[in-house]
Amino acid sequence: FHRAMSTLPKVYVTRKVPPDGLDILRESGQVQFEMWDSDEPVPRVELLKKVKGCDGILCVLTEKIDAQLLEAAGPNLKVVSTMSVGFDHLSLDDLKKRGIRVGYTPDVLTDCVAELTVALLLATSRRLIEATHEAKTGGWGTWRTSWLCGHELANSTVGILGLGRIGVAIAERLKPFKVKKFIYTDVEQRPELANMIEAEYVSFDDMAKQSDFLAVCCALTPETHGICNWNLFSKMKKNAIFINTSRGGVVNQEDLYEALSTGLIAGAGLDVTTPEPLPTHHPLFTLKNCAILPHIASASYTTRNAMSALAANNLLAGLRGEPMPKELKL
Ligand code: DGY
Repeated sequence: FHRAMSTLPKVYVTRKVPPDGLDILRESGQVQFEMWDSDEPVPRVELLKKVKGCDGILCVLTEKIDAQLLEAAGPNLKVVSTMSVGFDHLSLDDLKKRGIRVGYTPDVLTDCVAELTVALLLATSRRLIEATHEAKTGGWGTWRTSWLCGHELANSTVGILGLGRIGVAIAERLKPFKVKKFIYTDVEQRPELANMIEAEYVSFDDMAKQSDFLAVCCALTPETHGICNWNLFSKMKKNAIFINTSRGGVVNQEDLYEALSTGLIAGAGLDVTTPEPLPTHHPLFTLKNCAILPHIASASYTTRNAMSALAANNLLAGLRGEPMPKELKL
């Protein structure tokens, strides 16, 4: 038994992931795995120790998988499987150089993320967080004609920055709210996706100028880092609502603060920030027109379990040398 165990590929799981993925790993009989059995991230020093000699790593987005970590893992490492659709925490160049294959979890979270994005958009545009606060803290005097007025989706133009699966799913959900027009911008046109939601391709500047609602749905890459900055906000409409459920790094938060506090745009809803968690004394928290959530877009039991299962299946397929259910092309 011991000899059989010791010849199985060694895997380190960097977090207590939801049960479906763990069951898959256990029942596969294919790997011996150790897990950081906690809801908190594994300390870096511990991580660097634990990955030594591993064949596979199953991680979440708080772990930087960079040259230092790959060096610490050593030459056995064949597969990194992240329980996320985002991959900005992975140093793709270094992984590629070493011939390490990468699994991620697109698709299974699309519905959940789109749903939360719509919820955040409505909460921001209709000022729900402010409103519940007013109701319970005595601000509710009488019915007033302009009090807590917001902006409605009917007849609006919705812009999508980075049109992929999630952007399409958001547009599909927003359409019944009688949105007049969907527009999108991206590094190139995406006619197949755009046709699904009858979205028009526009330049970055035109998207800024035309959008009543702007949803950021792009991946964080060197090209998208900080693209939501003064250049964008200064061209947007005064009534515009800015929503980000992708990554905090695409936004210049100082510029966003300036835009929100001076009324350059009407409001922002953020599920992602830099850093995470955003310190409670951060200026953005002082703004009534900024709704901030703690990175919960994919947080449903069903979706997190599906992500965990897919991450486990990607890992196992990779270790068998087979195509992964969802492999990131490097
Ligand atoms: C991801 O998957 O990248 C999200 O940010 C967490 O679900």
